[in-house]
Amino acid sequence: MVDTFDLLSRWLHMLAAMGAVGGMLFMRFALLPATAQLAPESRDALLQAVRSRWAKAVMAAIALLLLSGLYNISRKEITYQVSPLYHALFGVKFLLAMGIFFLASALVGRSEAYAGIRRHAGRWLLVNLLLAVLLVCISGVLRQIELQPKSSGPQPASRAEGPAFSCVDVCATHCLPPTGSTRPARAEGHRHG
Ligand code: HEM
Repeated sequence: MVDTFDLLSRWLHMLAAMGAVGGMLFMRFALLPATAQLAPESRDALLQAVRSRWAKAVMAAIALLLLSGLYNISRKEITYQVSPLYHALFGVKFLLAMGIFFLASALVGRSEAYAGIRRHAGRWLLVNLLLAVLLVCISGVLRQIELQPKSSGPQPASRAEGPAFSCVDVCATHCLPPTGSTRPARAEGHRHG
C-alpha cells in the first residue's frame, strides 16, 4: 500500500532537485557562454535581471528539499532499523547539500561578502554541479541499501541474543559418532526436551 505523504514528499524532493540542478546546468553551459559575447554593461544588466528572478526559485528549491528531505529521513528512522552505513552516507549527503545550498545562495544573492564568488560564477557553478552529481549518486546508493523493517516482530539479531547452543549442536558433537566411525554414541540416555 502506497503512503500518500511518502509519495508526495518523494515527488517534491525529486522535482525540486531536478529544477535546481537543471537550472545550474542551463546557467553554466548556455546562459554564461551566450552572455560572454555581449558588451559588459548589457551583460551585467542581463545577469542581474536573471539572478533576481532565479533567486526566488533557488530559495523555494532549498526550502522544499529541506522539508521533504527531513520528512524522508524521519520516516526512514521511524520505519526501519537504519544501519551505520546508511547513517554515514546520509551524513555525507547532508553536508554536501549544505555546501550546495551555500554556493547556490551566494551565486544569486546580493551580499558584498560573496561578490568574489559571483565574479567567478562559471567556476563556482561548475563546482556546485560536481557536488550535486556526487550527492545524487550517494542518494541512489542510499535508496539501494536494504533496511530491516522495525515492525517485523522480535527476531534474534545474532547468536549472542539466542541460546548459546542448541540440542542439535550438542547431539552433533556428543551423541552422534563421527562420520564413518563404528564407535557407539556416548550419550545414551540423554534427554533433550
Ligand atoms: C541539493 C540537494 C539535494 C538533492 C539534489 C537531493 C536529491 C535526492 C535524490 C535524487 C533522491 C532519490 C529519490 C528517490 O529515488 O526516491 C534523494 C533521496 C533522499 N534525500 Fe535528497 N537531495 C537533496 C537534499 C536533501 C536533504 C537536505 C535531505 C535531508 C535533510 C535529503 C534527504 C533525502 C532522503 C532521506 C532520501 C531518501 C533516501 C532513501 O531512499 O533511502 N536530501 N535525494
